[in-house]
Amino acid sequence: MSQSISESIRTAKRQWGEDLVILGHHYQHDEVIEHTDIAGDSLELARKIPDQRAKHIVFCGVDFMAETASILAQPEQQVYMPDHTASCVMADMAPAPLVSRILENLHREGRRVIPLAYVNSSAAIKALCGQYGGSVCTSANAPTMLKWAMQQGDQVLFLPDQHLGVNTARQLGLSAQDWHKLDIRGGGTRLDHSAIEQATLLLWPGLCAVHARFHLDHIQAIRESEPEARILVHPECHPEVVQAADGAGSTSFLIRAVQEASAGSTLYIGTECNLVYRLRDRYRETLSIHPLRVSACSNMGKTSASKLASLLETLPDAPIMSVDPSIQAPALLALERMLEACR
Ligand code: 13P
Ligand code: SF4
Repeated sequence: MSQSISESIRTAKRQWGEDLVILGHHYQHDEVIEHTDIAGDSLELARKIPDQRAKHIVFCGVDFMAETASILAQPEQQVYMPDHTASCVMADMAPAPLVSRILENLHREGRRVIPLAYVNSSAAIKALCGQYGGSVCTSANAPTMLKWAMQQGDQVLFLPDQHLGVNTARQLGLSAQDWHKLDIRGGGTRLDHSAIEQATLLLWPGLCAVHARFHLDHIQAIRESEPEARILVHPECHPEVVQAADGAGSTSFLIRAVQEASAGSTLYIGTECNLVYRLRDRYRETLSIHPLRVSACSNMGKTSASKLASLLETLPDAPIMSVDPSIQAPALLALERMLEACR
């Protein structure tokens, strides 16, 4: 990165002082992370928002994260993104009008279906969760929140990530006969009502393309060539990958597992490669760390130091991330239920 871009970010940060805070998800490029005041996974970042006093919050990540920040921020705080086109492919797989229609149908049949949305979802989905007595979860608290949701009603609709849904359900001791993946083709006209009736957990058929790139073959090849290596993966991976790995957990779990690994270990990590490369470089002296396979999130990668510098130059007049006021309150309710259940 050119010295002038870095310098211009540092100068802007000095000028804005306590009126500015920069947050970034661990999947961001190093050149962005270097300038963040707080780097974290989805849960850590969401938890930090209510404590922020800065007038201007710059969020380096994807749109649902900045939306979440905007919902949790005070009305006088503004949330900005260096690139507003950075979206999440998985979040886009659960369009609110369709989810709303399906939830309405399920409730019309007399069942109390509690929606539990992975935080990787739009504000409109979070608002539906708020309205229907549900909540939100991240990969770091999915088991706690799924248990919570199961206590609130007859069934849980987990969305959008089917893989996180299955992996979490297994952690709670559920098995394949307890869940059913909804067939949402035809706008919900093909739902299998008898299968729905028998399931405790209804799964929305979304996934993260970045984590779905890891396959059993990748694990088997490492088991053969380096049997001593440990393989750790994110729970957005296919359930068969999670089951074959030595450990699975959120971004913060993966970072902790690396910090706690014994010197000399070899680790393969199945998650977004910006994070894996950062860990590889940070622990180069003591550990041998490799991506299970190189898989990058192109949307997370849209934010660059130069876009961050340009945004800081245009503050406070840059476009802000705003949430439709009609969904602000129910979306906040869903997020607060999560923050309350996972204190
Ligand atoms: P976590 O930060 O909850 O681990 O989620 C990973 C992810 O895919 C974020 O988009
Ligand atoms: Fe979405 Fe997957 Fe990218 Fe995370 S890594 S932002 S879940 S597409």
